[in-house]
Amino acid sequence: MKKAMVTGAAGFLGSFLSEELLNNGYEVVGIDNFFRGKKEYLPKHENFIFYELDLVNEQGRFIDIVKKHKPELMFHYAAINGTEYFYDIPYQVINDNVRMTQNILEACKNSSVKKIIYASSSETYGEPMHVPTSETHPILLNIHTDRDSYASSKAICDFYVKLFAKEYKLEYIILRIFNTYGPHMDTSKYGQVVPEFIHKMYHDKEFTIIGNGKHTRSFCFVSDHTRLVRKLAEKASDEIVNVGNDKETKIVDLAEIIHKIANKEFKPKYVPGREYDHKKRQPDISKIKKLTKDYPKIKLYNGLELTINSFNKKK
Ligand SMILES: NC(=O)c1ccc[n+]([C@@H]2O[C@H](COP(=O)([O-])OP(=O)(O)OC[C@H]3O[C@@H](n4cnc5c(N)ncnc54)[C@H](O)[C@@H]3O)[C@@H](O)[C@H]2O)c1
Repeated sequence: MKKAMVTGAAGFLGSFLSEELLNNGYEVVGIDNFFRGKKEYLPKHENFIFYELDLVNEQGRFIDIVKKHKPELMFHYAAINGTEYFYDIPYQVINDNVRMTQNILEACKNSSVKKIIYASSSETYGEPMHVPTSETHPILLNIHTDRDSYASSKAICDFYVKLFAKEYKLEYIILRIFNTYGPHMDTSKYGQVVPEFIHKMYHDKEFTIIGNGKHTRSFCFVSDHTRLVRKLAEKASDEIVNVGNDKETKIVDLAEIIHKIANKEFKPKYVPGREYDHKKRQPDISKIKKLTKDYPKIKLYNGLELTINSFNKKK
């Protein structure tokens, strides 16, 4: 049986990725410290083993777990993620994200691990010089905004992963992940725009949009993400690959669709934007299509319906 380790396994993407691997014949060892992940999101499956562990401060224990379970694939998805954190606790964001990656790489030295699949981010492209943005786009970081505590942690770790793999003769895949959404997302103020809008629509007196609503993002449903990443892990190596859906959507249109699905009146109030928020984000996905012979299939309306229904069930 193929063995994989997933860090951040109680988080949004890590929990669904673990399910995808389990459903495709893998044994999965999950790691999380519940910084943002939740116990109830962990897969219930006979081939899933879980350890509650802090990847920043428990390096020795982590090394022992890797030695014990001997995973071949290391999916490193743990991180402090969530835009408000980048502004509220920027030092912890950069420090934890880099240190946990260093600890994970250290545990991969002379181990069973053959390939590291690292969850990087489209944030490393900054305000892109071209859209759709391909993997050849340079990393753009801005020291003048705390927001880039996250992008810089991802960019530094891209280098760490690539150079470590070269030095220790492992394979690597760096995933430049664009906005992904679905059930299991955090609905607090630290959540991303889709759960934030759903939460606001149901609970707030006024529906506010940060900025003028004309900014665009490209939204990928989680099942498309996990299937494409599993295929990449099985077929590709030593690549930097955009993972996302290339259908671009204005933030105001996203908000309107969410209201339409919930059958609610749409009356947005615009509030001042966040400093240095990126205006556009849309991946060029020709590389992932070529490598996996697959592409994102879930339409935004359908994916949002599934997401809203899952949040309503939890109430
Ligand atoms: N969701 C997206 O749209 C998106 C976009 C780009 C990149 N990413 C990256 O993908 C990965 C997963 O993102 P997500 O949206 O599922 O976020 P998430 O916050 O839901 O998942 C991250 C998980 O890491 C865990 N974690 C944090 N610090 C830890 C520590 N010290 N030790 C152990 N576990 C720790 C958290 O508890 C959480 O469960 C992250 O690395 C993120 O940066 C996500």
